[in-house]
Amino acid sequence: MEMPRRNRLARKLAVVNQKGGVGKTTTAINLGTALAAVGRKVLLVDLDAQGNASTGLGIDRAKRDRTSYHLLVRASAVGATIVPSAIPNLDIIPASVELSGAELELVELNPPQRQLDEALRPVMPDYDFILIDCPPSLNLVTVNAMVAADAVLVPLQCEFFALEGLSQLLSTIDRVRRTLNPKLEVQGIVLTMFDRRNRLSEQVADDVRAHLGAKVYDTIIPRNVRVSEAPSHGRPALLYDHRCAGSQAYIQLAGEMLRRERQRTAA
Ligand SMILES: Nc1ncnc2c1ncn2[C@@H]1O[C@H](COP(=O)(O)OP(=O)(O)O)[C@@H](O)[C@H]1O
Ligand SMILES: [Mg+2]
Repeated sequence: MEMPRRNRLARKLAVVNQKGGVGKTTTAINLGTALAAVGRKVLLVDLDAQGNASTGLGIDRAKRDRTSYHLLVRASAVGATIVPSAIPNLDIIPASVELSGAELELVELNPPQRQLDEALRPVMPDYDFILIDCPPSLNLVTVNAMVAADAVLVPLQCEFFALEGLSQLLSTIDRVRRTLNPKLEVQGIVLTMFDRRNRLSEQVADDVRAHLGAKVYDTIIPRNVRVSEAPSHGRPALLYDHRCAGSQAYIQLAGEMLRRERQRTAA
């Protein structure tokens, strides 16, 4: 059920971590689905040339002729790149392999860091949330996401090296804030792939909270086999098995995010 919302203006969140395999795409897909399920209009922008978010939402290759690549470097109109997903309220701008060469083309554009921000402007009133799924790198494509975004959502995998690389990520966020996007904040840190049977997971979670405090979401995403199976069926975990622990955690994460957003706008 869609609530009538006046003055809708998308809140843009970049899902960023320069490490691969930490749960960025899984978080973008399932958080996006959970937000859509409670009536928010969501656009997911797939900025990874691998196109995992596009595949995970079951968008076939045939529907990927105008993609985030064309949006970023070919000045395609944003409307021509948006594809509805099978989930009501959830649209996606898919990615294609051409994006892997976009870096070199971006540097020739002016300004290279603002292409995504400018490209998304026309659809800002159409969505409540725009989630930008970033590649595993702090390259110019990711910088475009950080310049377009209001805030960054960082998935951290509960493993020994979780905090490694985080200081580089935080200093990149700082630099973008100082030079290109003063409004950029860290929206939150999400602990992913938590394994209850592994004492290390527990310890990593404690460490991360000790370092990053209130930025860390209370909700922890457990390691869950249903979550990892879902993409091969072209469906979010929330549709593949909405009762599994992973899906339930993403529903909880969406609730916690909406509470945080309400507190932010009230403040
Ligand atoms: N909570 C989870 N439980 C089990 N497997 C997961 C979970 N989250 C992600 N995965 C799996 O781990 C791999 C990496 O996740 P992904 O979201 O693609 O990371 P990234 O986008 O950061 O590279 C994928 O195969 C995904 O299905
Ligand atoms: Mg990914």
